[in-house]
Amino acid sequence: MPATVIVGMQWGDEGKAKVLDALCDEIDIVVRYQGGANAGHTVYVGAERYAFHLVPSGILHEEKVCVIANGCVVDPAQLLKEIGELHQRKVKVDGSNLKLSDRAQLVMPYHKLIDQLSEKSKEASGRKIGTTGRGIGPCYVDKVARSGLRVVDLRRPEHFRERVAARLDELNPILKHVYGEPVLEANKVADEVLAYAERLNPFIADTAQYINRALEQKKRLLYEGAQGTLLDIDHGTYPYVTSSNSTAGGAATGSGVSPKRIETALGVVKAYTTRVGAGPFPTELLDAQGEALRQRGGEFGTTTGRPRRCGWFDAVAVQYAVEVSGVDALALTKLDVLTGEKELKLCTHYLVGGERLERFPADLARVEQARPVYETMPGWSESLEELRDFSKLPKAARAYVERLEALSGAPIRYIGVGAARDALIRR
Ligand code: GDP
Ligand code: IMO
Ligand code: MG
Repeated sequence: MPATVIVGMQWGDEGKAKVLDALCDEIDIVVRYQGGANAGHTVYVGAERYAFHLVPSGILHEEKVCVIANGCVVDPAQLLKEIGELHQRKVKVDGSNLKLSDRAQLVMPYHKLIDQLSEKSKEASGRKIGTTGRGIGPCYVDKVARSGLRVVDLRRPEHFRERVAARLDELNPILKHVYGEPVLEANKVADEVLAYAERLNPFIADTAQYINRALEQKKRLLYEGAQGTLLDIDHGTYPYVTSSNSTAGGAATGSGVSPKRIETALGVVKAYTTRVGAGPFPTELLDAQGEALRQRGGEFGTTTGRPRRCGWFDAVAVQYAVEVSGVDALALTKLDVLTGEKELKLCTHYLVGGERLERFPADLARVEQARPVYETMPGWSESLEELRDFSKLPKAARAYVERLEALSGAPIRYIGVGAARDALIRR
């Protein structure tokens, strides 16, 4: 598998980082291709917990090279903080094993400010997206509007200052008149960000060239997707989405590599469903059962600490995600969390005003109205965490996995049975 992309099949937090960590032995390079510090990717090494936001989750494997590619939006303060924390924990992070694209967009202080102000202003009208407040949306807006600043711009301070000033000429009236906030002084903002330039310098590289050369040398790559299919800007529950392409296609444009060179897509899917932030969620459980899943699964956001909304497995959503990313195989995570449930439910289709729906609809109103139709399966009570062989799983657990596989439309190759690094069944 010269290049495999790991994609979330639901609304993020499927356990992508844990699966990636387990596959790192087989590869040379890990590439983040979209998103920014909105991601929260957790890896456990023994009792040690590592939560990554911008740094790729492969960094714990010293001999691997990690790349933050051009499709990402990078907050220099957050990146340097993360690197500093890793250094404190004696993890090697330097220019030899972490490469930052010179073409990646910079998350500026005003992006974070506007993200938070815009959310606050939408609160009263109930239109809040529930973003992570990390400036992701406003930064991608500037990218597409051609008003953004890129990592490479840090190398030309005067030009950098001019671009910041030009952008603030447009933003300051909005800050002042729309949000009633004080205006920002361009030089101060530029100084704040330019102060990070020297420390970022060793990491900056032409990462598209680096990756393409590596592929020519038969190096093996894992693309680490952030968020999930239903948060994708094109394919997700728009407008309750993030601002980038988290699906497999994003890996090509987000890293400067031909789609022909990305051979395999591995979808990561939770054995139930979670979502953080606002937006429709057909199989959501608003009762004690949802709360029980949240507690047992530790479903609290890695980035914001917010409780995650929980619900049953939704095959309509996952089938759609499998198709959109051309998923070859699935990694099913958190099967162990379902231990103790008497009965398990799998949503096979929706009913919208009496109409049967098997395809995830584009119209948000229809997703909101969708009534999930469930198949019920018996649960199991045995602990799964020590099991490493599919045939040793309780019969009911095997039946659940096999039914979920048939409904999803892709073979399940890995099954997560605990948060621990090795708590994974290979099938
Ligand atoms: P990501 O954003 O997709 O990488 O996922 P997160 O790290 O945000 O959330 C997944 C959480 O589930 C993390 O706390 C993981 O340690 C944990 N996790 C991953 N796989 C499993 C699993 O198979 N079983 C259990 N119990 N926890 C898991
Ligand atoms: P990982 O990579 C779960 C959600 C936010 C919000 C919406 C938009 O850990 O799976 P944004 O800050 O991106 O503008 O917020 O997207 N969101 C995530 N939810 N996991 C994530 O990342 C997320 N990244 C963003 O909660 O609903
Ligand atoms: Mg996460």
